[in-house]
Amino acid sequence: MLGRPEVVRWLGSPVPMVDLDAAREWIGSKRRREEADPFDLARAVVVRDSGVVAGTVSLSRCHRHGTGKFVGEYEVGWTLHPDSTGHGYATEAALALLDDVFARGLPEAWCGVFVGNDASCRVAERLGLRALGVGPDPWWDGESHLYKVTRDQWLR
Ligand SMILES: CC(C)(COP(=O)(O)OP(=O)(O)OC[C@H]1O[C@@H](n2cnc3c(N)ncnc32)[C@H](O)[C@@H]1OP(=O)(O)O)[C@@H](O)C(=O)NCCC(=O)NCCS
Repeated sequence: MLGRPEVVRWLGSPVPMVDLDAAREWIGSKRRREEADPFDLARAVVVRDSGVVAGTVSLSRCHRHGTGKFVGEYEVGWTLHPDSTGHGYATEAALALLDDVFARGLPEAWCGVFVGNDASCRVAERLGLRALGVGPDPWWDGESHLYKVTRDQWLR
């Protein structure tokens, strides 16, 4: 999934993953991040009936790109293999993830969607995230639709 240019073009770092070693390194770095911060996490999205790994859903502690500087927000994200889109898996997985992290006390979650990524905007809107408008992406280079939801809004 992360080796496909058409998938990674919408992610913060648009460089396709090259091989299995890079995938293992990516998984290892996600594990280390979650050990350091239980809200900095990624999960596989697995289709219950078939066992197919459809993609990933994540909450990431955000750093301003290139500076390594933490900017105080957590961003929810979703990525599916192209064979697994169109079934509602990203929305369902993100709902479960947000239920979990807000139940554990996360105060708010953000989401930046690069302009043009209409499928991802529809996921954010189906989830009920509040649209804050379009502007420079706070973490990456480019223009983004910015969304946010607070714990109170989510639990209401
Ligand atoms: C963004 C991305 C995850 C969206 O995938 P998706 O399949 O559209 O999202 P979902 O899994 O929530 O599925 C929703 C779609 O399935 C349809 N669907 C079919 N059955 C469904 C069901 N039972 N429940 C809900 N939706 C269903 C919906 O109508 C919707 O399609 P629509 O938006 O055209 O109406 C996917 O395009 C992707 O991986 N893109 C590349 C990476 C990326 O952009 N990541 C996000 C960066 S911000």
